[in-house]
Amino acid sequence: MTVRSPSEILRTKLALPCGATLPNRLAKAAMTERLADAHNRATPRLERLYRLWSEGGAGLLFTGNIQIDRRHLEAAGNVVIDGTESEAALAALRRFAAAATTAGNHAWVQLSHAGRQTQKPINPHPQAPSAVAVALPGGRFGEPVAMTTEQIASLPERFARAAKIARETGFTGVQLHAAHGYLLSSFLSPRANRRSDAYGGSLEARARVLLSSVRATRAAIGPDFPLSVKINSADFQRGGFSAEDSLTVVRWLDAEGIDLVEISGGSYEQPAMMAIDGLEPREQPTLPASTRAREAYFQAFAPAIRAALTRARLMVTGGFRTAAGMAAAIEADGIDVIGLGRPLCVDPAAPARLLRGEITQLDRWENQLRIGPGWLGPHSPFPLMRVVNGFGVQGWYYEQLVHLADQGEARPNLGVLAALIADQRREARTLAALVR
Ligand SMILES: Cc1cc2nc3c(=O)[nH]c(=O)nc-3n(C[C@H](O)[C@H](O)[C@H](O)COP(=O)(O)O)c2cc1C
Repeated sequence: MTVRSPSEILRTKLALPCGATLPNRLAKAAMTERLADAHNRATPRLERLYRLWSEGGAGLLFTGNIQIDRRHLEAAGNVVIDGTESEAALAALRRFAAAATTAGNHAWVQLSHAGRQTQKPINPHPQAPSAVAVALPGGRFGEPVAMTTEQIASLPERFARAAKIARETGFTGVQLHAAHGYLLSSFLSPRANRRSDAYGGSLEARARVLLSSVRATRAAIGPDFPLSVKINSADFQRGGFSAEDSLTVVRWLDAEGIDLVEISGGSYEQPAMMAIDGLEPREQPTLPASTRAREAYFQAFAPAIRAALTRARLMVTGGFRTAAGMAAAIEADGIDVIGLGRPLCVDPAAPARLLRGEITQLDRWENQLRIGPGWLGPHSPFPLMRVVNGFGVQGWYYEQLVHLADQGEARPNLGVLAALIADQRREARTLAALVR
């Protein structure tokens, strides 16, 4: 038997149920860029950034979250596709899609509704399953209002319409964002969703809006176009969306005929997707997970999820840093696609080098970035400092994306505090422009 090298394994093509083929096993995970214009249209900065990533070798690029409702943005600089696009907005999307597919790779739009994680200045009373605010200090998010059944019933059509526009403007697939605490994810969570109607209570009811959105989207894009869902392996919160819930919903998604399920975890309250501590202790899920050492955060869930899938392919994102670890995830845990996030904010061409076998690992910026000494860093005993570090480090990655878009290269020697300040200023400017 010939043993294949990690780079050979990563270079293997992947056929999707809809008939499309991914050229290799690496995907750039969705990362919000916040580079839209004041009308939430795509921009030349996005085109430059995605051309770099397209030429960077990953077979599949996900856009950062693109919103289906302009009153519910994760940030002022989000791109919006809500069906009211002017000809100029559609042309900008076409240029964005063309740039993102420069090298012949796939580029899929991640569609989202920010729900209760909409920033307060954008909407002080965002729509959510129930009037349960995000439990974080700092007043970043507003007081949510519970959606009416009519508002909820309109969501599948909105996702479907946006997906159709994504296809028409040249993107090669779509993903519904049902992870990380945004609207679809918050419907799944018994903590955020306290409804007692058809959309809350049992798991079936909490998953109803997600499954209806998947069905409507599939009908709008047709059977031959890739459809993916990003979902939490768990919320890692007491009383939240559990690993068992996730496994059941993944089964239902598979039966709906999606092509790719992407596994992540957590929310703003518990940022497990980046292995950052939340204010509350992290709830450990009870899913049978072997104790074999694995490098990625949610990889231990993969064998159970793989066994639940009959058709859909499996992508796992979060913490992958070595070619050997990625290859083992594919060979031993049944993962089909490896999602990569933060390392590609600094080195957009790292996937090509991994695929050629020129490098065997990616930089672990997450281990180096901090605002102050240990007791003021990301694992500080002071909860507020953990939160400040979380936002500071996140700001550092946003600044890297701006540098990539504007200068063609990142600026890794930037300090976290300086990045936090620069990012906050830029956010305030984008917000002011948007409000005007
Ligand atoms: C700057 C930044 C922006 C992100 N924006 C999104 C997003 O828009 N949608 C999403 O699903 N995940 C988002 N994420 C999470 C990533 O997709 C990914 O799950 C996370 O970074 C863990 O992967 P990694 O360890 O390879 O970085 C973001 C992460 C970063 C660092």
